[in-house]
Amino acid sequence: MKKLIAGNWKMNGNAAEASALIEAVEAKIAKDMDILDKCDFVVCPPFVHLGLVRAKLENVAMGAQNCSQRGNGAFTGDISCAMLRDIGARYVILGHSERRQYHKEKDETIAAKAQAANAEGLITIICVGETEEEREAGKQNDIVAAQLEKSLPDGVSEDNTVIAYEPVWAIGTGKTATPDDIRAMHAFIRGKLVAKYDDGDKIRILYGGSVKPSNAAEIFAVEHVDGALIGGASLKADDFMGIAAAA
Ligand code: 13P
Repeated sequence: MKKLIAGNWKMNGNAAEASALIEAVEAKIAKDMDILDKCDFVVCPPFVHLGLVRAKLENVAMGAQNCSQRGNGAFTGDISCAMLRDIGARYVILGHSERRQYHKEKDETIAAKAQAANAEGLITIICVGETEEEREAGKQNDIVAAQLEKSLPDGVSEDNTVIAYEPVWAIGTGKTATPDDIRAMHAFIRGKLVAKYDDGDKIRILYGGSVKPSNAAEIFAVEHVDGALIGGASLKADDFMGIAAAA
């Protein structure tokens, strides 16, 4: 399986910075096209930069960081899946811990959003992961199993869904889960997917949480790590492509 190298730009960058970043990433890929045999790329800019990033895409796909579960209508401040498709997005990140935490998004809402996204032909990147407290209590498997059970919609397949395991305590903290932690959780998630879906062995499982060029090789070497969801390091083309090079 090709690795999926996904950049979550979060709420960063002005228009000039977003343009420069996608240009730099595309330029690096253009110089080393063989990397496309090993990796698929997606960047997820803030909504307001989707149009300008779309205009510069060559070998990278584009995603959004959220979507509404509703169709177009009177929902002030929301963005529909149809709008995302129209502007050229192919992916949408859902259930990120920052949305679960700051916007109190529940698994059921995430499932509804995922259903709407899939219906519009978008591939969802559904994030799951435990907090530090939950890990210390040894509850990480229960937490992740419940998130998988409740935040995945009907009709999940390798064509419309990617799972991202992001331990909350490893996001933006510089603390990365150890290869053994990652191995155990990715194997656990794979088991759940295989038990539930016919193509569960082909659904990509990304790792996210302080991935950088210096730790990417050991993370990618872990079984059932099919790519990375990268926050901070996706804001620098050198680091983002350094991680891809490790794949
Ligand atoms: P960092 O790579 O900055 O830890 O962020 C990970 C993340 O949340 C990606 O969605």
